[in-house]
Amino acid sequence: MQNFEGKTAVITGAASGIGLALAERAAAARMNVVLADIEEKALTEAVKRIEERQVRAIGVPANIMIETSVQNLAERAFAELGKVHLLCTNAGVASAGSAGKGVWELPDREWDWVMGVNFYGVLYGLRAFIPHMLEHGEDSHVVNTASLAGLMPGGGTYGVSKHAVLALTEGLQRDLNERGANIHASVLCPGFVNTNISDAERNRPEDLSGGEDVGQTRELMAAVMTDLLSRGKAPSEVADIVFDAIASDSFYILPHPAWDDFVRDRVEQVLARGPVATTDMEEMQRRRDAGEVF
Ligand SMILES: NC(=O)c1ccc[n+]([C@@H]2O[C@H](COP(=O)([O-])OP(=O)(O)OC[C@H]3O[C@@H](n4cnc5c(N)ncnc54)[C@H](O)[C@@H]3O)[C@@H](O)[C@H]2O)c1
Repeated sequence: MQNFEGKTAVITGAASGIGLALAERAAAARMNVVLADIEEKALTEAVKRIEERQVRAIGVPANIMIETSVQNLAERAFAELGKVHLLCTNAGVASAGSAGKGVWELPDREWDWVMGVNFYGVLYGLRAFIPHMLEHGEDSHVVNTASLAGLMPGGGTYGVSKHAVLALTEGLQRDLNERGANIHASVLCPGFVNTNISDAERNRPEDLSGGEDVGQTRELMAAVMTDLLSRGKAPSEVADIVFDAIASDSFYILPHPAWDDFVRDRVEQVLARGPVATTDMEEMQRRRDAGEVF
């Protein structure tokens, strides 16, 4: 999709971080924007920011873990802005409850929350918007936000959810191609980006609460991650890369080329039929200290 002006973008997780930057970038391209988020106060602020750019913007409170909430988002978007041409399923969370635990020790609440937002939230988005895009038939694009964690070894609930988003998006593009659809897909796999994801626990639903255990890890994780993320790319830089990728129809969006080696090492380890692939942490830390992976 090269012509953005006057078209409509729907962005989940649009009240903060990468989602907000995507909304700003869409508005800069003269698109109308539907911003969806679970945090209503931040969403109201975000809508105001987008409206200042003299495009139409609406905010729809949504919990993307719940399919009816995503359907409601789609209905509001179609009713108020008509055809949707760009869908960015971007909202995501990282759990503080996974730290230091074996994958077999993680309770259902950990999987249900992280898979619920990061994987099912994307799937529900596709179910709600792809039939609409197929029906109107105009040039459209879907960007699913995964992570470099979807290309790197392991990673607990977060890594599993992001591998799932990567595979889902590859399947999506294949199925669209088979149908000759005028819809293109991309999967966004960033490294560190300076956002609020280190405090994703702020959005954990009460019924999936992690208890005290998570409360303590939350502070620790926030401290470590906030430092790393603060040195990461600016969300606006990532949003520019995403819009360039949409315009040039690139499927895999990897805004952090300094990580390419780690992805290559993993694939080579698989093809060598070797022992389990792991990230070379010493090399990672060396590069991190040298500021090379941000
Ligand atoms: N920041 C990074 O370093 C990084 C790296 C790789 C991938 N990502 C991915 O980027 C995406 C955006 O995250 P971010 O870094 O901008 O974090 P962020 O916390 O700044 O923004 C995430 C937004 O999603 C919203 N959200 C959370 N749960 C929701 C739900 N159930 N329904 C609707 N909205 C919900 C939050 O309220 C928030 O506004 C996520 O999918 C994340 O996994 C981030």
